[in-house]
Amino acid sequence: MDGPELHLREKQERNGWIPDLSVIGMGRVGLVTALSFAAKGHRVLGVDLDHRMVAKLRKGQASFFEPGLHELLTKVLDSGNLEVSEVYDERLLPALIHLVCVDTGSVDGSAIDLTNLLSALRDLSPYVRLDAVVALRSTAPPGTTEAARRLLSKNGTGPSVACNPEFLREGSAVEDFFNPDRVILGVTTEEAREALLSLYRDFPGEKIVCHARTAEMVKYAANTLLAVNISFVNEIASICERVGADVRIVSRALKLDHRFGPHAYLEAGLGFGGSCLPKDIAALALVAKLVQQPTRLLDAAREVNDAQRQGVIDRLLERLGDLESRVIGIIGLAFKPNTDDVRAAPGLEIAQRLVRIGAWVKVYDPLVEHDTFRHAPYEVAKDVYEAADGADALVLANSWDGLKSVRLERIRRLMRRPLVIDGRNVFDPRAMREKGFEHIALGVGDEHQPLPYGSLDKTPAEPWELALPRSSRDRLGLIDKDGFAA
Ligand code: UDX
Repeated sequence: MDGPELHLREKQERNGWIPDLSVIGMGRVGLVTALSFAAKGHRVLGVDLDHRMVAKLRKGQASFFEPGLHELLTKVLDSGNLEVSEVYDERLLPALIHLVCVDTGSVDGSAIDLTNLLSALRDLSPYVRLDAVVALRSTAPPGTTEAARRLLSKNGTGPSVACNPEFLREGSAVEDFFNPDRVILGVTTEEAREALLSLYRDFPGEKIVCHARTAEMVKYAANTLLAVNISFVNEIASICERVGADVRIVSRALKLDHRFGPHAYLEAGLGFGGSCLPKDIAALALVAKLVQQPTRLLDAAREVNDAQRQGVIDRLLERLGDLESRVIGIIGLAFKPNTDDVRAAPGLEIAQRLVRIGAWVKVYDPLVEHDTFRHAPYEVAKDVYEAADGADALVLANSWDGLKSVRLERIRRLMRRPLVIDGRNVFDPRAMREKGFEHIALGVGDEHQPLPYGSLDKTPAEPWELALPRSSRDRLGLIDKDGFAA
């Protein structure tokens, strides 16, 4: 045991340290949950089987990046309100609330994978008092809370089990934790209701107490709605580009409608990624399939999302012809700004597709550790300039604070062809063109180009011809054989 650990343990022993709360799983959700409740004065015992991660935590190091997390970890360790453990043991016994925050699914594998949840509940089971509440924060299908209750019961009696979904966004998880829009408490007993209402007493946001199955659906519905919004705006962006409109302004205008609001998920780009939206929309589609309910909107949202990634490859092929041995720089690998998480990240998915068709890919992201790509078939650049050096194209797949202030002149000189596909609409297209770039902004069309309605048999002279009665459109040859505008 080194210095700071010894210091912490001495302090806890002196105080007769006993936890009132446990957090199971010290990943992105669990750690933020544990630290935040500890900062609020609870004595939290955090458990994770990953002993390396636990050892790092004891030294004040988190295994991932999250704004404000390091400071919070230092503060909480110093206060002595957090203990972390790599084993389930008697130290858990005094806790009256256990918050279970383990992973429930992988993006690459099955959308629903409850193996970790099941084994965490089994490991926890011997140390849960009958008057304790076990609240599941992990995202899982309707019915999981009730199944957990059965699992933790013996001879018809057991602790209360509840569903308390989290809505933390990576990159602002700490802030989101302290300022929730709402707190959802899916309970199966009166004891759970009382305990959880009291736990969240000081938090802003409406508390919604409901059945566990409803709480489980709230989480899936919330993430699916965000995903559907993003795919909606991406489809609008594709139309904007073709008709010479600017999706950035369309999006701004939509957000000014108070029915959507300034924080609505209406930013066009390469589509949604991360560990939650893609997984949860797939999980809900699977749940719906099992109950024989069609999911037309969900399926369409997933298709649009995939098309956003493929759209970049298509544009590169269009401009560069064969991509075999072309050098493509991918700037930004994390799935969004302010995180180092590359799960289902658009940049990474595009890199993988490019490698598959023979391109030479250079990647750069300021937050993602080089080690992440140790075995990957990409060249890892140390900065934007190295990624641009000799490139036939740059794909901007994520943005960060400093990206806007890179030296564009230098980048253009370094590139073999100054082609930039701006997947986050970071740069102004006109300014980029003036600097000599071939800049493609997603969803930003050229208002000077003639409208490409020529895909119809006969290009209408004016848009109102599109609205002519069917018989006139037919005469003009604007109707295909199925009766739709061709
Ligand atoms: C999400 C939910 O927001 C959160 O409530 C839940 O608990 C976990 O899943 P997170 O995965 O951290 O959080 O990412 P989020 O900020 O929601 O972004 C998801 C993806 O959508 C990112 O790839 C982001 O770049 C993309 N996005 C977001 C858009 O493409 N356009 C938008 O307008 C908003």
